[in-house]
Amino acid sequence: MPRRRLLQAALAAGAAPAFLLRHADASPDALFTLGVASGSPLPESLVLWTRLMGPALPDAVTVHWEMAEDEQFQRVVARGSEIARASEAHSVHAEPAGLKPGRWYWYRFMALGQRSPTGRTRTAPAASAGAERLRFAIASCQRWDHGEYAAWREIASQELDLLLFLGDYIYEYATPASSKARRRHTGGLCRTLEDYRQRYAQYKQDPHLQAAHASAPWILTWDDHEVDNDWAGTQSQSLDPEAEFLRRRAAAAQAYWEHQPFPKAARPRGPDMRIHASYDWGGLARIITLDNRQWRAPQACPKPGRGGSNTVDLQDCPALLDPRRSLLGGAQEQWLRRAWDRERPWNLLAQQTLMARMNWQDPAEGPGRHWTDGWDGYPLARERLLRDMQAAGARNPVVLGGDVHAHYVAELKADYGDPKAPVLASEFCGTSISSHGMAQERLDQVLPWNPHIKLGRSDRRGYMRFELSAQRLEAELRAVDEPWADSSPLSSMARFVVQAGRPGAQPV
Ligand SMILES: [Fe+2]
Repeated sequence: MPRRRLLQAALAAGAAPAFLLRHADASPDALFTLGVASGSPLPESLVLWTRLMGPALPDAVTVHWEMAEDEQFQRVVARGSEIARASEAHSVHAEPAGLKPGRWYWYRFMALGQRSPTGRTRTAPAASAGAERLRFAIASCQRWDHGEYAAWREIASQELDLLLFLGDYIYEYATPASSKARRRHTGGLCRTLEDYRQRYAQYKQDPHLQAAHASAPWILTWDDHEVDNDWAGTQSQSLDPEAEFLRRRAAAAQAYWEHQPFPKAARPRGPDMRIHASYDWGGLARIITLDNRQWRAPQACPKPGRGGSNTVDLQDCPALLDPRRSLLGGAQEQWLRRAWDRERPWNLLAQQTLMARMNWQDPAEGPGRHWTDGWDGYPLARERLLRDMQAAGARNPVVLGGDVHAHYVAELKADYGDPKAPVLASEFCGTSISSHGMAQERLDQVLPWNPHIKLGRSDRRGYMRFELSAQRLEAELRAVDEPWADSSPLSSMARFVVQAGRPGAQPV
């Protein structure tokens, strides 16, 4: 009889010997093999997450959780239980309330006689706390079959207050047969709920990713690969019938919600999931997350016979300059206009991709060449966002991004055609945790054509680490030395600082 069923039998008989419990905790088919997570931190509440695993789980399992002010659980301050249901992949989204603002907590789950690993999390400071400092990191793009997670190992050791994950948590692809990678995706291209669940379960087995989740609360948004490469609203890259794509989008959204520390209220309704949100970190910062997928206009001027991205000359693609095209959709644009904060010293816009214009053509040779999946594919929507941000009186806006598998530090302007146009915001776009980047030689060729981009490094994997105070934002660009060694050290690639009241990052 498998150990776990033996344990269940022992529990049913009313007694589980201690050695069996210890054994069950250590067994490879234990319930909590995907670890624990927390997220969406508010001053008095947050979300605790886990998912039960096992071959013969009942349809409904009661899962108890507890939260303490100390790692030994001597001072438990909140307890509760949730029902983990097969219809939600036995995921748990517990929402303890009445917590103290700006405090560290430890949490764990218990079910069927087993206990989860312990996670550490914290609430956001109260608005009255003033401008308490914030240490956080941004991360994105962790393609499993492109490398090991040394970056997560370091992130987990940093005692961060918060982690912002900016998209591409999974990749939907099958690992190509020709790939020599020693980490491979289980299963083929994700299309069904079961496919996506299996993919999340595979990624979440990684001990370093689990440690990063257990070390601090996360705020997440998604990009394309949580569903389908380059998807746009109701359109898939391969132009599948809309009803078919929406069924796939619903499966992907359901699995995304099931595997992340989102509140119950964020549970998708069919293909729709509310992801964009705004969080306050005491009197210091407003953090705004965007969703650039669900309501975007399809990419302009795609390659023949398909949807998705392309790199096009401006003169061949007049649709790029159609002001009706939006990356966020009208309702989210309107929401964002009201979301900017004019009281707190900082506004952090946590979104998916590079916002700065990136011209892939020598300006001496034409009006510009642009990649259509990012903000460059929606230049008037970008200009609208920046002008709205300015009109709203947003203090010290900093745009954070991912997606393009390169570290970028840039200055954002409403008009890149005018060299004297003022810098309206600072941008930090972080490189991928593991996904491959483009050749550095290509980037080095185009950077001189984009003088507002202060740094571009596509040749290294890693993440960005920040320390924010009322007066300044310090950024450190971290880079993995050996992408196929999870024990690889990381090194500092560059440091920048943004002084309050002076948009634009300065190297230090
Ligand atoms: Fe990516």
